[in-house]
Amino acid sequence: MSLATENFIPETPFGMVLEADNGDSLFDLDKNELQKLILDESFIILRGFEALSNEKMCDFARQFGELLKWDFGYVLELQLKQNPQNHIFSEGRVELHWDGAFASVEPRFNFFQCLDGSAETGGGETTFLNTVKFLDSLPQDSLDMIKDIVISYQADKKAHYGGSIETPLVSKHPVTGKLRMQFIEPFNEDNADVNPVVTAIKGFEDEQNDRLLKQIIDWCYQSRYFYDHRWQKGDYVMVDNNALLHGRRRFQGTGLTRSLKRIHII
Ligand SMILES: [Fe+2]
Repeated sequence: MSLATENFIPETPFGMVLEADNGDSLFDLDKNELQKLILDESFIILRGFEALSNEKMCDFARQFGELLKWDFGYVLELQLKQNPQNHIFSEGRVELHWDGAFASVEPRFNFFQCLDGSAETGGGETTFLNTVKFLDSLPQDSLDMIKDIVISYQADKKAHYGGSIETPLVSKHPVTGKLRMQFIEPFNEDNADVNPVVTAIKGFEDEQNDRLLKQIIDWCYQSRYFYDHRWQKGDYVMVDNNALLHGRRRFQGTGLTRSLKRIHII
C-alpha cells in the first residue's frame, strides 16, 4: 500500500502489519485498499502513524461505515477499574467472544488505538482466534460434530452489554461467504462471580452440553490459529469481528497500565 510498508507479523499465524514510512497520518492510507486487506487478513496492525484524538479516531473509522453508539458513546476506554461492574475492566481473564453478540447490530470491524502497551513480563495480552482458518483446519469428523449446533447465551446487563441470544455456532461470514464460528466461551473461572454468561447447546442434556463445550474450548486454545497479541504503545489495530474471536489473558502485577481505546464500525 502506498505510504506504508506491508509485512507479515513475525511469529503470528495470521494478520499483517503496515508500517508508516515517515510517521504519516492514518488518513493518508487508501481506505478501499485497507478495507480489502482487513477482509483478506482479518487482523491488521498499523504502526508508526501519528496519534489521534477520540474525535479524529471516529472520523477515520467513519470512512469504513457507521459507528456503533453505546451507552458511553463511540469510544470505549479499556483500562482497569476498582470494583468493576464487568470483568472486561478487571484483572481477570476474558473468555473468547465476538463483539456485539448482545447488541442490536454486530460490528464488522473493531478499531483500536494503544495508548500504553502490554508489560514485557506478560499478562493482559489480547487473545485472538481466526475462526475461518480454525474451521478450515479441523478434521472433518470434528467439524461434523459442531457444524449444525445452535447455542443460547444469557448474561445480565451490568456494563454496556447483556441479554439473551441464540446463535448457530458455525455460519457464513457475511462478506466473504467463508465458514466462520461465533462462540462465547463458558466456564471462565475469573468471571464466575462478576458477570457470567449462561451457555447451553439447544437440544443437549447438561452433561453432553458441558462435554462438547469443553471440547470446543480445547480445540480453540490448541489451534495453530490462536495467538496472544502483546500490545505496543502507539499501534492501531483493525480486526474483522466477523472472522475472529478475541479474549484477554489475566493481568499480572506489572501489566496493569495497559490502556486501549476501541471503536466499533458497523
Ligand atoms: Fe470484546
